[in-house]
Parts: sequence; C-alpha cells; structure tokens
Amino acid sequence: MFEVLENQTLAPSLHRLTVRAPLVAAARQPGQFVIVRKDEQGERIPLTIADADAGAGTIRLIVQAIGPSTQDIVATPAGGALRDVVGPLGKPTHLQKWGKVACVGGGVGTAVLYPLAKALAQRGNELYVIIGARSAPYVILADELAEFSKQVYVITEDGSLGRKGLVTAVLADMLSGTLPRPDAVFAVGPVPMMAAVAEQTRPHNIPTMVSLNPIMIDGTGMCGGCRVKIGGQTKFACVDGPEFDAHQVDFKGLANRLKMYQPRQDCRIGLGKEGR
Ligand code: NAD
Ligand code: FES
Repeated sequence: MFEVLENQTLAPSLHRLTVRAPLVAAARQPGQFVIVRKDEQGERIPLTIADADAGAGTIRLIVQAIGPSTQDIVATPAGGALRDVVGPLGKPTHLQKWGKVACVGGGVGTAVLYPLAKALAQRGNELYVIIGARSAPYVILADELAEFSKQVYVITEDGSLGRKGLVTAVLADMLSGTLPRPDAVFAVGPVPMMAAVAEQTRPHNIPTMVSLNPIMIDGTGMCGGCRVKIGGQTKFACVDGPEFDAHQVDFKGLANRLKMYQPRQDCRIGLGKEGR
C-alpha cells in the first residue's frame, strides 16, 4: 500500500496527491509516469510523476476525476492509501540546452508539462510558458511555473484570466517575433491542441516535442494498447515515449484510437449522448 500524505484541490475535479513511494521517488526522472490502482477492482491509471522528493521518499501526482477509478483515486484523503503505484515507467525527457524554450500547456496537460519544464530550466534553458484553459478556475500551476520561468503567459477561452483565446495565439506571436522567438517547443494538452502546435512550428523547422496520452494498460510494451504511429512506424507510448517529435506524430490516428473507448467510458460513468 502507498500512503497518501496530502490531497489538494487544484481546479474543479483536479487534485494533487503527495504519495509515499520511496523507491519510485529515488529512481524517477522527469517525463516518466506511474500506473496507479486505488484497489484490486480499480482500473490501471497512468499518471505522470509531477514531482518527486527523493529525500522525503515522496512523489506528487496530479489526477483529474473523469471516470469511477479516477474518482476513487482523488477521493483518497490524507492518511488513506493507494493499492498499487508501479514505476517509474516510460523514457525520461530528452534534455539539452536549446536556448529559449516555449512550454505550452493546455488545461490538465499543464500538470504533465510541469516536470518537463522544471527539468528544462535546470538544464539552463530560458523558459517561456504558455498556459491555456477554458476559464480562470482551470488555470493551474501558474505560480509554480513562474518560479523557474522567464515569462508565464496565461490565456483563457473566455478571457476571465490573462489574454482571451487559445494557446496557439500566444505561440503565433512568439513565432512571428512579436514575443521572444523559441529555439524549441514542448507542448502537452488535448490532441487537437498538440496537432495545432505541430502545424504552427513545422514551417519554421523548430524542434517540437509532445507528450502523448493514448490508452495504456500494462505500461510495459506487452499489450499494444498504447500504440501510436510516429513517422509511419508503430511505437508504444509506454516504452518508446510518452514524448515524441511532434512533426512525426499521426495525431488523427491517435484521436481515433482515443475515441474508440469513449462510449464504454460514458456507460461506466452513466452518460448517454445527451448527458455530455
Ligand atoms: P481543454 O479542452 O479545456 O483545453 C485547454 C486549452 O488547450 C484550451 O483552453 C486551449 O488554449 C488549448 N486548446 C484546446 N484545443 C485546442 C485547439 N484545437 N487549438 C489550439 N489550442 C487548443 O483541456 P482539458 O479539458 O483541461 O484537458 C483535457 C484533454 O487533455 C483530454 O483530452 C486529455 O486526454 C488531454 N490530456 C493530455 C495529456 C497529455 O499527456 N498529452 C495530459 C493530460 C490531459
Ligand atoms: Fe501496453 Fe503500452 S500500455 S504496450
């Protein structure tokens, strides 16, 4: 069992859990994830390790309550426990000194972006972070990211915080030189957002990395559930990723595979078409 030491609400349905997992905390590198089960009946949920403290033997996980299993995880109070925390899994982020790096986080994807951004800053890069969300309550980690970034731009779809619009509007200003022009871009968020970022940077030949979130089951390259097409080749996000060159990703294929399981998920959480 893995004890939950703290459970904070970051945004509606979004919680940050501090979990005692000393072996994971000691071995973990930025970009890696764990697979969590609340109990023996729970689904296996892949979660990015948002942060780790090897000295304290703890990791931090940011979890969005979507279906019954994630709802059970976020409902675990301080003092409660998770049945399984398996990892660290996946390849660590490829770190190098690019210079100016744009880190683009869409909604909950900002939680996955955070450890990458922190590691890129520690490697000596100058970070320009773009956080996009539908409205103010969904903007997360802005203060934490500001601690090691040169600039944090917040943009919301309804204009309730920061500029009004989508993350791509700020990135467009960076690419045109109105704002500092990036030497590399890291983007994490909904698939259409990552696809849009890839198309923006492609004509500029700016190295662009994305973190993919296909369905995962075993997390060890055995089941094939997380397969994605990268540069025309089949890769497994759990062992070959989750980070990939955005310009090589088949985003259409990824979106279609994610949609395949939506009706079953909706059944489990009691949503018909009209319920969405
Ligand atoms: P959301 O739909 O509220 O979008 C957040 C922001 O992303 C928007 O405000 C906008 O700025 C940007 N965005 C979204 N679609 C865009 C588009 N087509 N073009 C340009 N910008 C766009 O996000 P949410 O509800 O917080 O996140 C849910 C989605 O994120 C789910 O689909 C989930 O699977 C995905 N997600 C992905 C990862 C990952 O590792 N890639 C991690 C967590 C969540
Ligand atoms: Fe099974 Fe990746 S989750 S192969």
